[in-house]
Amino acid sequence: MSVHVVILAAGQGSRMKSSLPKVLHTLAGKPLLHHVIDSATALDANGLHIVVGHGAELVRNSLATTPVHWALQEQQLGTGHAVAQAMAEVPDDVSVLILYGDVPLIATQTLKALLADVDTTTLALLTVALDNPTGYGRIVRNAAGLVERIVEQKDASEAEQRIKEINTGIMAVSSNKLKQWLPRLSNTNAQGEYYLTDIIAMAVSEGMAVKVTQPRCEEEVMGVNNRQQLAHLERWFQKCQAERLMAEGATIIDPARLDIRGEVSVGRDVFIDVNAVFSGKVQLGNGVTIGPNCVITDTSIGDGTEIKACSVIEGAILGSNTSIGPFARIRPGTHVHDEAKIGNFVETKKSVIGKGSKISHLSYVGDAELGVDVNIGAGTITCNYDGVNKFNTVIGDK
Ligand code: UD1
Ligand code: CA
Repeated sequence: MSVHVVILAAGQGSRMKSSLPKVLHTLAGKPLLHHVIDSATALDANGLHIVVGHGAELVRNSLATTPVHWALQEQQLGTGHAVAQAMAEVPDDVSVLILYGDVPLIATQTLKALLADVDTTTLALLTVALDNPTGYGRIVRNAAGLVERIVEQKDASEAEQRIKEINTGIMAVSSNKLKQWLPRLSNTNAQGEYYLTDIIAMAVSEGMAVKVTQPRCEEEVMGVNNRQQLAHLERWFQKCQAERLMAEGATIIDPARLDIRGEVSVGRDVFIDVNAVFSGKVQLGNGVTIGPNCVITDTSIGDGTEIKACSVIEGAILGSNTSIGPFARIRPGTHVHDEAKIGNFVETKKSVIGKGSKISHLSYVGDAELGVDVNIGAGTITCNYDGVNKFNTVIGDK
């Protein structure tokens, strides 16, 4: 069956105490909702539906280029009501995967496992056992251990509140069934809401099977309701990324003081000192050394190059065995060839620094082309701007 993904993102997120809609707060430099969309996109789904409400305009604008069916839920009357808003655009005879815009780290692998279970006779549910299940919907099973229904915290009896297995909210279900069940939901419950979770009991009463899948870890299904939870997931995600780089052969002095807001690839024997921030696409070749407090964005760094402390580098190509910093500012369009050296308090922009050339101290080199083995003395500036046009400075070899 083909798959349509419905992402719920209408809630206000009042506990964030923010004027920004919750799903636009960032984790690793990317909005929460975009993390969910990226995981969903990796499934090759046939349609992506996003239910928005609070801050709908801002959320839509953040995704102007992604093909999405938007559904507006003007009043937040519950998760069942939210899904219902998207159903007009969801075709018959497909599987519907329901995700939350504020549960950013769900893994594609887990979603694939869930989708492997769903069909016209089986509903697939993602659950997890928590030491402290307070606040979540509980999975109620019968004497044979089969799932019977979900009860929300506020509607649960004392015995039900002792159940540790909780509803993550993520599930996959046939669109035909959803279209029958959603209009039958009622809001006569403790919160006066149309609960999506009530469809479980409906499925069971029709003799459908409910199959349960678990994520590989709790963080995958953790929601962000406040800034403490956001910080917790940020650190967890960063730790996972640090572990991946170490597994690929990088030494990281302190995995808790590394931040990757994009994609970083590493060769062997890369050494990363504390407080590195990488953004966008960064490639580090074999034997690259990154000193403390460096900020590196969209840059590729060749084998054996050393970036010394407190350097800021963006949009650059650095060759092999170059030396940059300390306190260097390398701006977009800089291409440093092999064995060149850029020292302290040097700013470069849109410039080619030839092989073996040196700019060791206190200089601005912009819109320049330096040949090989050029030596630029302290306090040198290249610039040629008449107020309208910029002209290149060309310096020959040696
Ligand atoms: C829901 C589940 C609960 C589960 C928990 C997991 C129901 C009734 N309860 O609880 O079983 O353990 O998630 O976190 O489904 N949303 C809308 N429109 C609405 C209501 C919610 O878009 O009218 C969105 C929210 O923005 C959020 C998600 O749905 O992304 C979940 O809403 P939330 O209020 O956090 O769900 P809970 O009631 O906590
Ligand atoms: Ca929640």
